[in-house]
Amino acid sequence: MAGVDPRIGMKLSDLETPTLLLDRRACENNIQRMSSFFKDRPSKLRPHFKNHKCVTLARKQIASGAVGMTCAKLAEAEVLVEHGFDDVLIANQVVGKIKTLRLARIAKKARIGVAIDCLEHALAISQSAFEESSTVNLLVEVDIGMGRCGVQPGEPALELVRNIVKLPNIRFAGLQAYEGHLVNVLDRKERSSRAQSAMQLAVETRRLIESAGYEVFCISGCSSATYDSTGTLAGVDEIQAGTYVTMDKQYKKLVPEFENALSLLVRVISRPASNKAVIDVGVKGAGCEFGLPGIRDFPDVEIPFFLAEEHCVINQCPDWQVGQLLHFIPTHACTTCNLHREILVHENDIVVEVWPIEASGKLT
Ligand SMILES: Cc1ncc(COP(=O)(O)O)c(C=O)c1O
Repeated sequence: MAGVDPRIGMKLSDLETPTLLLDRRACENNIQRMSSFFKDRPSKLRPHFKNHKCVTLARKQIASGAVGMTCAKLAEAEVLVEHGFDDVLIANQVVGKIKTLRLARIAKKARIGVAIDCLEHALAISQSAFEESSTVNLLVEVDIGMGRCGVQPGEPALELVRNIVKLPNIRFAGLQAYEGHLVNVLDRKERSSRAQSAMQLAVETRRLIESAGYEVFCISGCSSATYDSTGTLAGVDEIQAGTYVTMDKQYKKLVPEFENALSLLVRVISRPASNKAVIDVGVKGAGCEFGLPGIRDFPDVEIPFFLAEEHCVINQCPDWQVGQLLHFIPTHACTTCNLHREILVHENDIVVEVWPIEASGKLT
């Protein structure tokens, strides 16, 4: 039997760096805030696992009222099913025989949904599910303006539904619709009204499909930045918010009511000149495609660039010593968590738990 992790009980200042950290109180507040928002509403949370990829955290989201989890990848869904989750949606296309067979296999153990946007997807999944004697729920993805995957709203979506409903070993479960092109609109009112107009396209498509005589069990979509706009629209059932639970620098600008729970503990490893400090993390430890990390407690210190694998050079630094600890706030929590294998949970500057990130690096 594995013993107690020796880092539990350690002060953060005694840890090796870089280390991914989660502030327990901030994370619990985020979970609580989001679950109370949806507690008495018709729509329910289906949090996006891709944000943290950590089974323990996903369990906490389910315990606080989430109806199931959303995944971006089949391999993430497999991890959840292996760990006993019984209701998982892959809000993405699963293509290729090996993958559709894997999909059909997990559908024997759990309620599995997957997005499709053409008849070929449905035929392949139906065939694999037939071979595996399982049933897969299909959500027709509607492109509500993002321009990624998805069939056009209205008649094209209805046409696809007509073509798939009679296929064996699948069940038409509803619509997938994500307003991803609007989540970064800074002005909250503008974001809210534009996101609602976009999501209305999915709601109207739902009505059209229903009026043609097909039952639509759900519309699943929305994000941490639009939970209080599209998440309250009549006809929307499931909210796939992900980042609210860990938060990051980018989302903090959009939904400041959630707290930055995630940080990267890093160290100054060199002071090669009077104004210069070198930190022990680079692109192999922090996702930075949305911009550079912030530095907690030093809001005025900017990281000028962040391209090295394992280093980050700061040119105008305060009076930091070699060995000084800093908390970087990643700009993108999802790509940062994917780079780490575990997350150290802390409270009052002491490590209280160590959680594996089971789906880190699961990309297939
Ligand atoms: C399909 C889908 N649903 C929902 C989300 C929302 O996640 P988050 O709340 O982290 O923005 C995303 C984000 O990329 C997504 O791709």
